Amino acid sequence: RRALLGTAGATGLVLGTAGGAVGYASAPAGATPLTSVGSGRAMFHGKHQPGITEGLQARGHLVAFDLAAGAGRKEAAALLRRWSTTAERLMAGEAAPHGDTDVARDAGPSSLTLTFGFGYSFFGRTGLEKQRPGALDPLPDFSSDHLDRSRSDGDLWVQIGANDALVAFHALRTIQKDAGSAARVRWQMNGFNRSPGATAHPMTARNLMGQLDGTGNPKPTDTDFDQRIFVPASGEPAWMANGSYAVVRRIRMLLDDWEKLSLTAQEQVIGRRKANGAPLSGGDETTPMDLEKSDAHGDYVVPLNAHARITRPERNGGAAMLRRPFSYHDGIDADGTPDAGLLFICWQADPLRGFVPVQRKLDRGDALSKYIRHEASGLFAVPGGAARGEYVGQRLLE
Ligand code: HEM
Repeated sequence: RRALLGTAGATGLVLGTAGGAVGYASAPAGATPLTSVGSGRAMFHGKHQPGITEGLQARGHLVAFDLAAGAGRKEAAALLRRWSTTAERLMAGEAAPHGDTDVARDAGPSSLTLTFGFGYSFFGRTGLEKQRPGALDPLPDFSSDHLDRSRSDGDLWVQIGANDALVAFHALRTIQKDAGSAARVRWQMNGFNRSPGATAHPMTARNLMGQLDGTGNPKPTDTDFDQRIFVPASGEPAWMANGSYAVVRRIRMLLDDWEKLSLTAQEQVIGRRKANGAPLSGGDETTPMDLEKSDAHGDYVVPLNAHARITRPERNGGAAMLRRPFSYHDGIDADGTPDAGLLFICWQADPLRGFVPVQRKLDRGDALSKYIRHEASGLFAVPGGAARGEYVGQRLLE
């Protein structure tokens, strides 16, 4: 396996598309080539952690840990060192450093990413309060919240994504075992996206309501992309240089109610066409939305409470975020209701200039609010990428 994977290329950037497997490499002569999906590889070392700007992966696991009683800064530093070694190896398609279980043995890296973050409570447990960024202050309560606190927050957060379910599970199991006696799992959630290759060409992924989701995302080619998504190199606190803040919300979709709506009504809720994501004001998916356009009766063609109108950056003081979600399905409740929706994950340089103002506005009631329910929440400081020889979070923990 190692010989095959040593030459895999770097992962490129495909935003808002379902085709997460990029940067395919050919296998060395004589070896059986991996498929394009298996050979996709993201790099562990870099300016930013992986798993933020890469294309959506087909499979995702989110897991939060709390430090064990008696574990402090020293144990946390050792854990982040273990996790970083594991992440580097698994993302290269190599075996886990200790006692690999063989679950991912025959597969390539499959665009695996592991991303590590710190929650508010981490800093109290480790005596690092002075290093806690103001941006980690707890999110305000929203009137529509139905939050399960036992599935929210946590000292440490790990996001795992891969284009193969076994590769993703293998990574989850390995980092759980790495935690040893230093930390215990607080909550864990599983998600998915479209598999690369399922559509004729890479395109914006659909969510479980059937909409194209991700169209309005900031693009890496935007001049202000880095400024919106990442803490500047000279930013505060210094250990968060090139990092980002992740807001995680488990949002259940009330699919029985949603699916009763006519197509026209569903399109009015969002303000975009379901088939191709085009704004109701006309054009195709990438045509800018004309918020002023009205119909023969003088009504706005993009309704005033349409989700895609209310969330526009220009209507929220420029607030913008990079949404990089996974869908989830946790089975069907006893009454037949699907427990399904969106593991909404958004990335921003500052939650007070990203998620918070937009969610405040949505909380006052956009047309979508009737069809969703926020059930869990987390906010995590995700430091910049580890340099070679460094572990993630080293600048905080040493
Ligand atoms: C846009 C769905 C929750 C922020 C959209 C679009 C859809 C959508 C279909 C239009 C296409 C696109 O630009 O991606 C959903 C669903 C949600 C949800 C199904 C819940 C299950 C949220 C939340 C926030 C949010 C909680 C933030 C607080 C945005 C933003 C845009 C957007 C910023 C893009 C606006 C623009 O720049 O054009 N959403 N959304 N969404 N949504 Fe949501």
